[in-house]
Amino acid sequence: RHPLLVLGVESSCDETGVALVRTQPHDLQDATLPVPELLGHALHSQIDMHQLYGGVVPELASRDHIRRVLPLTEQVLRDTQCSLSDVDVIGYTQGPGLAGALLVGAGVACALGAALNKPVIGVHHLEGHLLSPFLSADPPEFPFVALLVSGGHTQLMRVDGVGQYQILGETIDDAAGEAFDKSAKLMGLPYPGGPILARLAQGGDPAAFALPRPLLRGENLDFSFAGLKTAVATQIQKLGDGLESAKRDLAASTQAAIVDVLMKKSLLALRLTGLKRLVVAGGVGANQLLREQLNAQCAKRGIRVHYPELHLCTDNGAMIALAAAMRLQAGLQEATRDWSFDVRPR
Ligand code: KG4
Ligand code: ZN
Repeated sequence: RHPLLVLGVESSCDETGVALVRTQPHDLQDATLPVPELLGHALHSQIDMHQLYGGVVPELASRDHIRRVLPLTEQVLRDTQCSLSDVDVIGYTQGPGLAGALLVGAGVACALGAALNKPVIGVHHLEGHLLSPFLSADPPEFPFVALLVSGGHTQLMRVDGVGQYQILGETIDDAAGEAFDKSAKLMGLPYPGGPILARLAQGGDPAAFALPRPLLRGENLDFSFAGLKTAVATQIQKLGDGLESAKRDLAASTQAAIVDVLMKKSLLALRLTGLKRLVVAGGVGANQLLREQLNAQCAKRGIRVHYPELHLCTDNGAMIALAAAMRLQAGLQEATRDWSFDVRPR
């Protein structure tokens, strides 16, 4: 198989990302396929725009993706000294995400494909997150347990190869990122709550407030974070005017509760599967406390932990180009010249 140049477009939520990766020459018989090389990527975050409204405004997100996607594509091509005619395949995020936002990336990818007569391939956003650690300096090897923690999803998975995913557990209500964001909002912190709450927590006492850590008993690998949000709301009500002075402690306690559950469930999944490798991906994977705790606990047990590079934890085009390239390389999916596109918001 010859190297393929894959352009990837991400537009599922509030970041527009475009990237170019190249697959390495390989034999289809190769047991381990070489990881595609990231040639370049460009990203525009809409955080400043949505911050005014305290959350993502879908209509504004779509409009901004429209403004950004072609300039970002041009930037990536310039940076990598490639031209559109060099591109072999165009990948895009098909879902899940905001319908209007997804349509922008899908529409642009398929329009480019039709105009240039290049095949296109739709990618699952979470598979992008899941595979993003392969772009790090210390890429994982299969099989591994994956902890996928983003704004919309929280899952533990057994991963035996590209496309070989078995869900071990997932959230029955809010996602971990949602728990961060909703608690932050209750505390009056600006959007996006997760990283801001984490920063505030640095000076606080994680034991100041006793917050719930549900479903930790037994061998349950599911998560539930809705009760945490309620508990935080109750504490805020009790604190009244005292909230301001207790905010750091409440932030630290909230973060500790979320991280504690994520860490313990990951260790349980490792124990139950007998695997010795953990991969953490998704926006919450950027959380420093989570990384410290997982590193410490896994080191004790002889388990290796892999993360995406910090700047590739949250949404980006590189992970979408990578996932498209890895699926093509593994022969899991064909790129198609049927450019009539479809998105899958859910
Ligand atoms: O993966 P992502 O960029 O988007 C989704 O696909 O959902 O994840 C965004 C989520 C948000 O909930 C954000 O608050 C959270 O990741 N997040 C963090 C941190 N950085 C991002 N949560 C806690 N600590 C962080 N440092
Ligand atoms: Zn994401």
